Amino acid sequence: MKNIKNKLFSKELVKIGPDSGYDNYIMAIESSCDETACAIVKNGREVISNVVASQIKTHAQFGGVIPEIAAREHLDSINIVIEEAFKQAKESIGIEPKDITAFAGTVGPGLVGCLLVGLNAAKTLALTYDKPFIGVNHLNAHLCGNYLDTDLKPPFMALLVSGGHTQIIDVKSYSEQNILGETIDDAVGEAYDKVARLIGLPYPGGPKLDKLAQEGNPYAFKLPEAKVDGYNFSFSGLKTAVLRLVKSFPEQEMPVKDICASFQECVSSTLVHKLKKAIENSGYKQVVIAGGVAANSEIRKKIFALENEGYRVFAPPMKYCTDNAAMVASCAYFNTNTFDDINTEVFSRVK
Ligand code: KG4
Ligand code: ZN
Repeated sequence: MKNIKNKLFSKELVKIGPDSGYDNYIMAIESSCDETACAIVKNGREVISNVVASQIKTHAQFGGVIPEIAAREHLDSINIVIEEAFKQAKESIGIEPKDITAFAGTVGPGLVGCLLVGLNAAKTLALTYDKPFIGVNHLNAHLCGNYLDTDLKPPFMALLVSGGHTQIIDVKSYSEQNILGETIDDAVGEAYDKVARLIGLPYPGGPKLDKLAQEGNPYAFKLPEAKVDGYNFSFSGLKTAVLRLVKSFPEQEMPVKDICASFQECVSSTLVHKLKKAIENSGYKQVVIAGGVAANSEIRKKIFALENEGYRVFAPPMKYCTDNAAMVASCAYFNTNTFDDINTEVFSRVK
């Protein structure tokens, strides 16, 4: 896709974004890891179509995502999810490809081979239908999942928790964000998946560990909360503590549910403790949770308890917590200051 001549779209010409005064329909594609997804969203909030093809079953047999296989599966699914998203939009409100305001795609962070499939599809659609292209950061997109079907407006404090990231983010405006703290080692989702593997749960371990934790005693074992400066986190020591605990029991007698519940208690209280400090210091009255781990029952429970202290709490419904393209479309609408170069490249790690 290199060196294709850019057509210059300007925001004045293509009226887009919350201040444009025009209805926008953005089609977005997401393929950063193991979900191939396509969605059409009206004005950043109203989901017209939302299609996700998950590869979980394929990767489960290997105990984790195999990048090469994931990229090939994206290739198999990409045209199907795009067609289905167009079909749903046509059937529900009569929207055709020519009515799409702009085409967006996730540029990173993620698995490069996977990102290339979705991004090139988004670019091809933009070129084919002669519309602007918008490249979207996957982490920003997770935050924007909270704009879907809600009236949330910045400023707010956000906790972003996924398989690759753990961050407290001060969202000052639609396009201005400041990362206040992050993990210095494992991300929360990564810690969940690693601990799940330690106790013999199949991939993806996070949701399974969560389920078992709900049946255990969260105070059965006191696990160490890492002492890290400011709003930063560390979860690798906790993982080692769980390993030690697991080894202290004969396999048949391992109190799996209590270990899960104690781990979940330690993680959720660490996260919410620091998040609460950040909100109090900011003076904001709104708090948001995002990312795949935002599906976690105990983290949700503890964050929603902040409603009793007068805060508005937002957490996406499950379908917008894990990877999807509706959040990417919303992000393209709210975060876009300019359109992107059609030669924009993918990136694997946070820049
Ligand atoms: O955001 P996401 O879908 O993909 C990344 O961008 O990383 O997050 C996936 C992560 C995985 O580590 C998965 O185990 C974790 O989110 N996860 C959970 C739960 N549901 C998903 N972790 C804990 N409890 C859950 N209920
Ligand atoms: Zn994600």
